[in-house]
Amino acid sequence: MEEVVFVSTRHNLLEKVYQTNDLTKEEITYLLENITHADREILYRYALKTKQAYYGDKVYLRGLIEFSNICRQDCRYCGIRASNAKVERYRLTPEEILTCCAQGYKLGYRTFVLQSGEDLWYTEEIFIDLIRAIRKSYPEVAITLSIGERRPETYQRLFAAGADRFLMRHETASQELYEKLHPTMLFDDRRACLSALKDLGYQVGAGFMVGLPGQTPADLADDLRYLKEFHPDMIGIGPFIPHSETPLGAEKGGTLKDTLVMVALARLLIPDSLIPATTALGTLDPQGRELALKAGANVVMPIITPTSVRKQYELYENKICGDDHPEDCRYCIERRIQAAGFDVDLGRGDSRQFISR
Ligand code: 5AD
Repeated sequence: MEEVVFVSTRHNLLEKVYQTNDLTKEEITYLLENITHADREILYRYALKTKQAYYGDKVYLRGLIEFSNICRQDCRYCGIRASNAKVERYRLTPEEILTCCAQGYKLGYRTFVLQSGEDLWYTEEIFIDLIRAIRKSYPEVAITLSIGERRPETYQRLFAAGADRFLMRHETASQELYEKLHPTMLFDDRRACLSALKDLGYQVGAGFMVGLPGQTPADLADDLRYLKEFHPDMIGIGPFIPHSETPLGAEKGGTLKDTLVMVALARLLIPDSLIPATTALGTLDPQGRELALKAGANVVMPIITPTSVRKQYELYENKICGDDHPEDCRYCIERRIQAAGFDVDLGRGDSRQFISR
């Protein structure tokens, strides 16, 4: 009798999130604590259908340029944290970044994601000149920044110079866990940055890691509720993968299954968002990104960082594509997307929410 009640409760929750794109924190927590293999299959199918209703079978590509691994922050999970003395640090010059863009443009990319550690060598002025130069050469591309926390005035000037989008994961919605993991950052600052970026008119990406040490189903429910309320244009979700040169090196990492469930729930709760099948998922499992595409993701971010420095941008260990060249990643990804049954779209791929704004 009891089992029948549970089955019908889970079944009702799956139907509810599919029909209404909403669940309470308690409902999400209950689902995460009791989910079965069969429930997961239903969830993935509903997420795929929802993705198709909003974006069809298109998968958008973004060229990712990891332009500096120098970081002033000291996040306990991250391989390029300031106190890891074992990474060889690098910093691409604005000219080198422009060369990456030229190469990326030739490969067909129409979004460039400029990502780095929090490296203050790149001043506001340097970024402004760089963004203007990219804009001038490629007027139609989307320029996405992923450079961490700066002053709102800086965000405003970079937007005015021509940046379109900004990625900054909230990392975890649990204040207690956030504070444990980020000795050099504040929970409220992160949220304030995200809100400021959104108010300035950026298309904003938030997101979190799955399987962090101490993270509970209720914490993950908070992550999804925060996203539902903040309504970002983009949502990055990846498994935590331990890095041996960090204080969390001996911890367990996040699993493929748990991450896919969170991707699917994010799609169902925030149906018009752009959700990448992350490199971290591809690192955890050779089919990780394809499985994410089948569970609601609709973006892939192939790396166009020069091969000479790629391996040094090691946020977590065994990151894939370290020896590859930009053209390898471009065509490898296209084959994988097609083999999974989806169509590559090289356009700007703005979010549905942004288009209707
Ligand atoms: N495992 C998985 N993801 C990580 N990130 C940083 N370190 C790790 C790790 N060890 C993620 C963070 C960050 C993004 C760029 O990479 O969520 O926002």
